[in-house]
Amino acid sequence: MSFVEVASVDDVPVSTTRHVEVKGIVIALANVNGTIYAVSDRCGHQNAPLSKGTLYENIITCPLHHAQFDVTTGKMISGMVELSLPGMDQAPKEFQDALMAIGEMTSHIRTHNLRSFPGRVDGKRIFVKV
Ligand code: FES
Repeated sequence: MSFVEVASVDDVPVSTTRHVEVKGIVIALANVNGTIYAVSDRCGHQNAPLSKGTLYENIITCPLHHAQFDVTTGKMISGMVELSLPGMDQAPKEFQDALMAIGEMTSHIRTHNLRSFPGRVDGKRIFVKV
């Protein structure tokens, strides 16, 4: 493992995330109050790109099923959330049944912590150890 330059601090303003890829590994950089953290950009639930989610302080929320992770550690804070669709009760029964079956299967998928990566900043250059 070695440190690899992945981005500039200008690319990751405070309270934002940025997707980078190094050696085939997808990484989400997250700027928490001026400190850059690096975690896997694959949700620990079903691999959705976390960098497309939302970052609030040190918590990133998955854009797909809303599991939450602490970007400073990679630890899962909360698992997926089942959502109900507005107007679902008006949809054809076959469609409702299919969505219920998918929801039931999805509820059995375990959500894992994220891999986190050591990082450092040199001037404006962000390095991640991979
Ligand atoms: S893929 Fe992220 S919560 Fe399901």
